[in-house]
Amino acid sequence: MTDEHGFITRSIHAGEAENASATPIYQAATVDGAYLRGGNPTFTAFEEKMCALEGGGRSIATACGMASVTQAVMTLIRAGSRIVCHQTAYTWTRHFMSEELPRLGFDTEMIDMRDPKQVDAALEKPTDVAYFEPLSNPSLDIIDAPAVIRKAHAAGAKVVIDNTFLSPHLFRPIDHGADVVLHSATKYLCGHGDALAGIITTRDPDLGEQILRTRNTYGGILSPLNAFLLLRGIKTLSIRMDRHVMNARAVAEFLESHPRVKRTYYPGLPSTPGHEIARSQWAGYGGMVSFELAEMPIEQFFNKVRLCRPWVSLGDVGSLVAGDPAGQRVRMSVGLEDTDDIIRDLEQALG
Ligand SMILES: Cc1ncc(COP(=O)(O)O)c(C=O)c1O
Repeated sequence: MTDEHGFITRSIHAGEAENASATPIYQAATVDGAYLRGGNPTFTAFEEKMCALEGGGRSIATACGMASVTQAVMTLIRAGSRIVCHQTAYTWTRHFMSEELPRLGFDTEMIDMRDPKQVDAALEKPTDVAYFEPLSNPSLDIIDAPAVIRKAHAAGAKVVIDNTFLSPHLFRPIDHGADVVLHSATKYLCGHGDALAGIITTRDPDLGEQILRTRNTYGGILSPLNAFLLLRGIKTLSIRMDRHVMNARAVAEFLESHPRVKRTYYPGLPSTPGHEIARSQWAGYGGMVSFELAEMPIEQFFNKVRLCRPWVSLGDVGSLVAGDPAGQRVRMSVGLEDTDDIIRDLEQALG
């Protein structure tokens, strides 16, 4: 595979065994004398595929998304380091940034990266890492990634981006200069809700080698079976993402006009803050929608949905709904079902 091949061709063929229609599962602790904490051939294939899709220098697979978050950041910091993070991020990433790192003596600051003044002010102090999700979990904050990357680099900081909500089909942070992009591969990359996984990709192969040493130290490697499921899932990433986007837009438009919905957030809606950034930078608006209910307790809505399952994950083939930690908003991962069926289920649950 070369960069001349298109994204979908690479998602199908890159990294795969050349002599078989599917890369085998190496269910072994050693192969050819090598101890496989350092690199099992099945998860190496997954790493090579992701590296080809992200346009990166090196990819490192981990046991889950949080193993990617923690191992990437721990590689980039040293005694006295300061980390700046967008105020909204996945719950356990926020916990890591605002409780775990300070507990270990690191200086972390949570700011609103949508506000250029806050970014400038935070970067006035020497900073080692700027961290954010371009489309954040759960509030769907939209961040101008190229602008933050430029400012962070000018201040001498490395940029780590969690791109779980978009996937490389819709946005490739390394093309915009990001140093590290990572995913909870459990979500859109896997796509079928049957494996937990994480993946880190670096622009600079040497930084990738350093993260590999972190993984060898901390453990948290990916199981070969889960790597196999990831290899299979990614082959249909683009096809799935396009349909997630199509269904999510239809759901967002339905919700926006429903009297029982106070406010709908979807990057594709002009009324959602940051829509212009999403329109100009991404290849699609994603499959995540969030909304506030009017005159209806959130629990009542969760009890009434039938097709949409009230489960805490996202990026699966089936539609999922979950409450945000503040209990204000429903976060919906719009699945691949027939569009009318999803909307009918929401209609009866809201009715
Ligand atoms: C944006 C984001 N990053 C990281 C994670 C953590 O991933 P995992 O559950 O695979 O550890 C999640 C999980 O929901 C997530 O949504």
